[in-house]
Amino acid sequence: MGAIAASFARHIGRRFADWGSKAYQRNWRSSPARRAVVLGLAVLRQPGRLFGEATASFYTSRTPYAADPAVPLWSNLGYWAEARTAVDAQIELARLLGRSGRLAAGDELLDVGCGCGDQDLLWLREWNLKRIVAIDVTPLRVELARARVARAGLADRIDVRVGTATELPFGDRSFDKITALECATHFNSREDFLREAHRVLRPGGRLALTDFTPLAGSPPSPADRLLQRLARRLIGIPAANVYPAASYAARLWRIGFERVEIRSIADHVFPGCMRYRAMLAAGRSSSAVVEMEARDFVASQWNSAWHDGLGLGDYILVTADKPRIPTSPAITSSG
Ligand SMILES: C[S@@+](CC[C@H](N)C(=O)[O-])C[C@H]1O[C@@H](n2cnc3c(N)ncnc32)[C@H](O)[C@@H]1O
Repeated sequence: MGAIAASFARHIGRRFADWGSKAYQRNWRSSPARRAVVLGLAVLRQPGRLFGEATASFYTSRTPYAADPAVPLWSNLGYWAEARTAVDAQIELARLLGRSGRLAAGDELLDVGCGCGDQDLLWLREWNLKRIVAIDVTPLRVELARARVARAGLADRIDVRVGTATELPFGDRSFDKITALECATHFNSREDFLREAHRVLRPGGRLALTDFTPLAGSPPSPADRLLQRLARRLIGIPAANVYPAASYAARLWRIGFERVEIRSIADHVFPGCMRYRAMLAAGRSSSAVVEMEARDFVASQWNSAWHDGLGLGDYILVTADKPRIPTSPAITSSG
């Protein structure tokens, strides 16, 4: 009798757990039919995005105009290894990039795709950088970033400008470090940016990015491929940027970088972000603590909306150094 009661209790417990994770699952297991409807509505709302430059329009639409300069306006997915609120996770992702880029006191940093500038305030203060030049293609974000920098009294050390990653308006060998926090997937093309980054870095300088790539070994169905192309187009992700991490590394070597390292940090990015978004969808506050479960850290459990919707299911941390002694790209291309 006791065993039957225990088994019944276990069954009820499991049903409760399933019910609790429904919002989470709904968020990331969206069917192609549902995605087709969502994309169709997006095209009807802003058809111009299909033909013009979609990125700035997309990021303008996702930025509040009258933002309180005291409230952070990060727009990365966050690093959730320890953090349990969105803002903490976003700060941790910026810190991880800062450490990986080996930021150091006295550095002159170029930050590309700076968004509303939160990471620049953090890096300048925590690493005591000499100067940051931050650029972003979305004018509204640059305006908000400038307001935040001015409010912090750091306008003499953080210079925020409208600009595009693929035509950096700086002379050769101008910076010690370059960062691009979750934005290079939009650059048209990412490879042009990598070439520009190599040009404006000083010898011995370092490039550090977080970025999206397709998951190796999971080709999409024809219907998914079509929907993912359309979705990428609507948010300004060029087809030329969709290649796996190995091709990413090969491009860096070819351009002339050395000590190229790429590692997936997806396990600590997507699960927390997916749970956070599910909580928001369920009406919870953006400052709510995100409850993670052990299974969230098992990759097979969480193939994300980015994988399904965009065909970009991996999240990588990339670092590469510009050699101190110039080498010919032809010599390094075998790497
Ligand atoms: C996901 S947001 C990340 C913003 C910020 N790094 C953060 O972590 O909060 C991507 C940013 O890249 C910017 N961006 C996209 N394409 C760009 C380009 N070609 N040049 C410069 N910035 C670009 C967008 O305007 C947007 O602010």
